[in-house]
Amino acid sequence: MAAILPAGCHKHAVGTALRGGAPTLVEMTGPRSLRAHAAAHHLLVGCAVAPEHLDGEPQYAKTVADQASIVVPENSMKWAALRPTPDRFDFRGADDVVVFALTHDQKIRGHNLCWHEALPAWFEAAVNRDNASRVLTEHIRIVAGRYAGKIHSWDVVNEAVDPKSGRPDGLRQSPWLELIGPEYIELAFRAAREADPAALLTYNDYAIELDTPEQIEKRGQVMMLVRRLRARGVPINAVGVQSHLSAGETPGAGLQHFVRELRAIGLQVFITEMDVNDRSVTGDVADRDAAVAHIYRDYLTMMLAEPNVTAALTWGITDRYTWLNLPKYARADGKPQRPLPFDADYNPTPAFFAERDAIDSRRVATSAVPSDSYAPFRPGAGPRIEEE
Ligand code: XIL
Repeated sequence: MAAILPAGCHKHAVGTALRGGAPTLVEMTGPRSLRAHAAAHHLLVGCAVAPEHLDGEPQYAKTVADQASIVVPENSMKWAALRPTPDRFDFRGADDVVVFALTHDQKIRGHNLCWHEALPAWFEAAVNRDNASRVLTEHIRIVAGRYAGKIHSWDVVNEAVDPKSGRPDGLRQSPWLELIGPEYIELAFRAAREADPAALLTYNDYAIELDTPEQIEKRGQVMMLVRRLRARGVPINAVGVQSHLSAGETPGAGLQHFVRELRAIGLQVFITEMDVNDRSVTGDVADRDAAVAHIYRDYLTMMLAEPNVTAALTWGITDRYTWLNLPKYARADGKPQRPLPFDADYNPTPAFFAERDAIDSRRVATSAVPSDSYAPFRPGAGPRIEEE
């Protein structure tokens, strides 16, 4: 691992930010960081990270260390990253993230154990109806077992609902559904609980934030899935609301109701992958940043008012590495997206201040917040992480 705090770095760094048009020096680390503000409100805050930047770019590592009390590997715990061949695991990237987080007193989300995407190239030829259940449970046993005791929450199953499938249960036509049947979800949660008794087990999905007809339908199907799992005694502790939003969208009362329904059945909610796509905004950078910050402020203020919303993560920390610059999501004018709390030069954007203000707006009774969600991490509970 590279040195985390480069020599000469001030403990409470200041950065420049455009507020009201003029650049001003602002404090954003130490007691002014997102993580410090979140800690004061019984909340975990953080971002997705990539091991190659943690290791190779001191400014990236410093920003993550300064701001996040919880991190999640953006890609390095996915099947495609961990499983180069059917019988070999490569944990180097995932281990780097875990070691970084433990070194910086950060919690870790595991992402993910079962998804229809990011499957390795060998998957299709090697996995069939006869062996799929075994392949899935073994993967979970080995991966969740390796990090047992070190993970705050696992995304056990990711994106299993798709209203377009036309199925009455709303389940997506994924390889797992086709090979195992609908019970693959239950199988995955039970295997995860067995491998890591301490992690909060999460179902994670997207396009369930808005009150559009499509998203209302999908949100309802996710709720049905969660209720079915609960009724069968499946160990599930939380729902992840990915929160890939776009400028101009207004998430509303439907999501708030969903969060409260989950609270009523004892589940936590994590904002797992927030970012704001600004491709619909045509103005200059200030206009775009204002539109993005507006969503951060409104969305997080609404969500963080709910006591069972206990963690908020953005999908990356700096615009420099946002996945929203992939061609599929890119802006029509070719300009880079600005969806995250820090711009490509690590200056805080208006979204940073909006996020921090929204954290400060959280007024929840301590007794109403699930106590396992923000308690300090106790290292040493799981097996030691060996170097490959
Ligand atoms: C994305 C990553 O950010 C990209 O780098 C990768 O190319 C594709 O996957 N929902 C999820 C995440 O659960 O795992 C996805 O991450 C974004 C959508």
